Amino acid sequence: MQANPASDPGRKTLMPPPAARKQEPAKGSGEHSVEVMRHTATVSRDVRATVGDPRVEDPAIRSSGVNVFYGDAHAIKAVDLDIGKNEILAMIGPSGCGKSTFLRCLNRMNDTIDGCRVTGEIVMDGENINGRDIDVVPLRARVGMVFQKPNPFPKSIWENIAFGPRIHRLATSKSELDDIVEDSLKRAGLWKEVADRLQLPGTGLSGGQQQRLCIARAIAVQPEVLLMDEPCSALDPISTARIEELMIELRESLSIAIVTHSMQQAARVSTRTAFFHLGDLIEIGQTKQVFSAPRHQLTEDYVTGVFG
Ligand SMILES: Nc1ncnc2c1ncn2[C@@H]1O[C@H](COP(=O)(O)OP(=O)(O)OP(=O)(O)O)[C@@H](O)[C@H]1O
Ligand SMILES: [Mg+2]
Repeated sequence: MQANPASDPGRKTLMPPPAARKQEPAKGSGEHSVEVMRHTATVSRDVRATVGDPRVEDPAIRSSGVNVFYGDAHAIKAVDLDIGKNEILAMIGPSGCGKSTFLRCLNRMNDTIDGCRVTGEIVMDGENINGRDIDVVPLRARVGMVFQKPNPFPKSIWENIAFGPRIHRLATSKSELDDIVEDSLKRAGLWKEVADRLQLPGTGLSGGQQQRLCIARAIAVQPEVLLMDEPCSALDPISTARIEELMIELRESLSIAIVTHSMQQAARVSTRTAFFHLGDLIEIGQTKQVFSAPRHQLTEDYVTGVFG
């Protein structure tokens, strides 16, 4: 973690008071229990500036002053937030607070929504992804997305995976595509279950298998960042555990931002947690700190179940 560099004012960020800073835990492994100590919050409900440091030393994506409007409605308000390389960042907060909206900014999926306007800077490799000359097709390969409801194409399992590498010219022959399909399915932990039925429709798999197929499809184009919007909310505990294991494995080679309503899930998989409320990024910190010693009253209310 680094203090905000001078060139990056992080204008909404409110550093915690010294007493709270002393509670900063060591960088966590992501394996925490959700146990909240009462009366640890140090910042009142009325303060809307971000508590904690939204910056990391080596971001895969750096967002600065990001606003999103749906018509006149201000859905995301001047959010600064980094997604670190090889980290799993959890985004939590009550329904309607803007988690999906913010996630969609990161690969320009909000472009597809009529009346949606995004301002601010989102920088990857020194380039603002909102720039006019940015081609969203390669951007969405670099920043892949997995949705709440698995959405395989109505094609074979093989085609579901091979489609992206083919259009992005990552393979020059059928056998190279075969290798990518096999490797992606292995990385997504699905190969053993589907190796003998690659030509059958992806839509014929179970919900948990379809979600792993969608993850395999996203990683087949070698993304640097994977965005996951409640990827396990329709899955049983066994499929959920499989996806969580997979996320922890994938983190070795990419960055993940996951929106979840499950505090247990955020605590199990993530390194840092961002808490949103009514479009503001209220608190950001190491997951263990956010859950065990939240600094903002709104975070404490949410993680202790007072609202949400
Ligand atoms: N396509 C849209 N058109 C207009 N308003 C929208 C649209 N999508 C979201 N909003 C509004 O923007 C705000 C943030 O919505 P968003 O879906 O990002 O919340 P969320 O935190 O993901 O909620 P949930 O936990 O229920 O998925 C809400 O007030 C919502 O009504
Ligand atoms: Mg949502």
